[in-house]
Amino acid sequence: MIHQRDVLDGRPARVVHQTESLEWTDAMLLGHAQMDEAHQEFVEVVSALAQCTQHTALGCLEAVERHLLSHFEIERIWMERTDFPATDCHLDEHQRVIDAVQQVNSLAAVGKVGLHDVKRLAKALTDWFPGHADYMDSALSAWVNKKIHGGAPVVLRRDLPMSGESNSEVSDTQRG
Ligand SMILES: [Fe+2]
Ligand SMILES: [Fe+2]
Repeated sequence: MIHQRDVLDGRPARVVHQTESLEWTDAMLLGHAQMDEAHQEFVEVVSALAQCTQHTALGCLEAVERHLLSHFEIERIWMERTDFPATDCHLDEHQRVIDAVQQVNSLAAVGKVGLHDVKRLAKALTDWFPGHADYMDSALSAWVNKKIHGGAPVVLRRDLPMSGESNSEVSDTQRG
């Protein structure tokens, strides 16, 4: 974990995980089907943005914006439906991300954004997501599951290392 300035809105430091690229693993599952699906799609669209070219950048930017609007709406509905106590700060964080993406998109639409800026946005989203999912979204998932089912979710994850074992050892065991 690295302390850094939040690139999305220039706000002062908070703790975030930093990774070079975003790849889906079951470690990201939170135990809420709709949120997990949205998070899997987030990884897909942001990875596509990180790998876009001059020719595909606009389409990838639009896909990210479309995705974020629906992803954040799903979470907003669950917060509202279950009276989630930390709704305001969760929605504020979503709004800052949407604002940053929409700002880049509107500049891109009039040709005022270079590929470098697009990649910078992809990196900022890549850095932002794990911290948000671990902290805010997992709290929301736990809250919703408690409200709906009266307990914490049981999350079945594939191919994760058990304590003291490496990934490949576990995978080999499971394959054998
Ligand atoms: Fe989320
Ligand atoms: Fe969220």
